[in-house]
Amino acid sequence: MAYAAFRSIGAYVPSKILSNEDLSKMVDTSDEWIFKRTGIKERRIAGKNEFTSEMAVCAAELAIKRSGINKNNIDMVVCATISPDYFCMPSTATIISTKLGLGNVTAFDISAACTGFVYILSIAKAFIESGMKKNILIIGAEKLSSITDYTDRGTCILFGDGAGAAMICATDNKEEAIIDIHTGADGTYADLLMTPNGGSGSMHDSLDQEAASCFMQMKGNETFKVAVRTLTKDVVEILETNNIDSSEIKYFIPHQANYRIIKAVGDALKLKKEQVVLTVQKYGNTSGASIPMAINDIYESGSLKSGDLMLLDAFGGGLTWGSALVPYSPLK
Ligand code: COA
Repeated sequence: MAYAAFRSIGAYVPSKILSNEDLSKMVDTSDEWIFKRTGIKERRIAGKNEFTSEMAVCAAELAIKRSGINKNNIDMVVCATISPDYFCMPSTATIISTKLGLGNVTAFDISAACTGFVYILSIAKAFIESGMKKNILIIGAEKLSSITDYTDRGTCILFGDGAGAAMICATDNKEEAIIDIHTGADGTYADLLMTPNGGSGSMHDSLDQEAASCFMQMKGNETFKVAVRTLTKDVVEILETNNIDSSEIKYFIPHQANYRIIKAVGDALKLKKEQVVLTVQKYGNTSGASIPMAINDIYESGSLKSGDLMLLDAFGGGLTWGSALVPYSPLK
């Protein structure tokens, strides 16, 4: 049987920084309020002509190079995004694979908001274990600034842009294998976080009304409470199912939405500070890109070593959630 190994990571962040001070000149807020309630100090914003696919390609090039896999052997590309280059079609994954010069590969996007990376990890694992594919490039990429309302202080302080990519490859060595992935969704909470724009559910009569509703809308306080509850339940379940104690986790890498949410889950699991990976202070919430960007941070700091066990945990619009137990398994 083939197993799926997490071989490599890469990420890209745009150079432009949007600080809390900058935001306090745009909406009625302050650095103190934002930092105290979210842990965020700044976030990155892509240039006007810097599309989601371009950030994704930069992240993917790094992940491919670090994997040691020849790009001609990549047979599938999956992109998790809620801010694609184009709504509906073509998919961002097809644009990415063409820009990377990958030739004839299976390529598609998925929409699971901030849980996107855990979802595409589970898709890659399933395709590899079934024997259908061998080397899969997965990417979480977001230009959330393109769907953020910069007059709404309840949302614009939270979100940023960026991309992260990973190579997931077939191996016959069970020691290298992704151990388990849990995913779930509950549409009864759909209205907590949504972009009520031009889909078939849109009730607008004019393009002006349509354009006004292209931005993300969120019931922040309710989302916060469900997030803490769901994320904690999720990680407790995946650890129990696999008979793994939280002390065996080298790095807990949660979706980076809010420091207070991350702290609540970390405390519930009795994790030590050095086990919890935090990037929310410098990148804000980058939705499907946040987990691979955080993994890349520990990789580039030199802290991520072969065999380190990572616990990923995500939560997002839909509502969706997911967790994964993933050893870092670079090619030896
Ligand atoms: N600056 C200053 N004041 C603000 C503000 C801002 N940016 N945003 C909201 N406020 C005000 C509110 O108007 C409210 O004022 P009031 O008491 O006079 O009515 C007060 O602060 C408290 O608002 P509330 O929404 O209850 O704050 P909160 O403690 O829940 O923090 C969030 C708001 C958005 C930071 C928090 O709810 C959150 O992070 N939620 C989860 C978001 C998330 O993770 N979303 C993505 C899921 S993947």
